[in-house]
Amino acid sequence: MLEAPPRERLPRHVGIIMDGNGRWARARGLPREDGHDRGADSVRTVVRAARKVGIEALTLFAFSSQNWDRPPEEVFHLMELLRRYLVQERAEILDNGIRLVTVGEAERLPPLVRDPLGELMAASAHNRDMILCLALSYGGREMLTKAVREMCRAVAAGRLDPESVEVATVETYLESARLLPPLDLLIRTSGEHRISNFFLWETAYAELYFTDKQWPEFDRDDLMAALADFARRERRFGMTGDQVRTQATTGDVAGGSAPSDLD
Ligand code: IPE
Ligand code: IPE
Ligand code: MG
Repeated sequence: MLEAPPRERLPRHVGIIMDGNGRWARARGLPREDGHDRGADSVRTVVRAARKVGIEALTLFAFSSQNWDRPPEEVFHLMELLRRYLVQERAEILDNGIRLVTVGEAERLPPLVRDPLGELMAASAHNRDMILCLALSYGGREMLTKAVREMCRAVAAGRLDPESVEVATVETYLESARLLPPLDLLIRTSGEHRISNFFLWETAYAELYFTDKQWPEFDRDDLMAALADFARRERRFGMTGDQVRTQATTGDVAGGSAPSDLD
């Protein structure tokens, strides 16, 4: 069993594009739906493991804005599976101090999902040990478009001065930034190397991790391997490696307090 990296090297917020359910099933001569059902077992395993090692927030990309275009039977199966997940995991989520939140177009979800989702979000609202965020009917472009629309409305109503708009202003219009810490690590399973309209704004400085494993096979050790990989990386945020290392030892940017050559 792989060990988790030390706490100070852990990402605060991990996002996962849970991909490959259909291919996992097809490779075994099973219907795609069976792959989704097995994928729900991986969700349970990964949520447990993340909570245990002390991840602050875990966002699972469960259904994209574009996934509505799949065959209606598959969409219906996914909605029913979501409902089942919410009902079956209710006790474990509450007992483990997990706060459930969502990002995405919640209004597009059918009541069979929206009702148990709303109930569990309310029941878990005061939990503080981990945030579990389900990205449901989520599209990065759709979320940015919504933010732009709301900002345009605010400008038109005289509540927002266009000249005052900064990066932080935009973030006040994004659910993800209001609810979650910055995204540190993005994992995608199934061997695909794309974002598929997930967290577009949020991936700006996230570390990306890809694995060939299909989602139904992804287990605790796979999560630990991704966390270990993250722990070894140097995140520079545009600075030099020397600056980052000095900052890590002194808490200051290299040369930050010394007079610069340009003075
Ligand atoms: C991920 O698995 C689950 C969802 C997108 C809902 P897929 O269903 O995309 O599986 P593949 O990519 O077809 O194998
Ligand atoms: C991304 O997977 C969406 C989710 C995991 C929910 P897709 O299977 O929909 O992505 P593409 O179609 O391969 O880009
Ligand atoms: Mg897929």
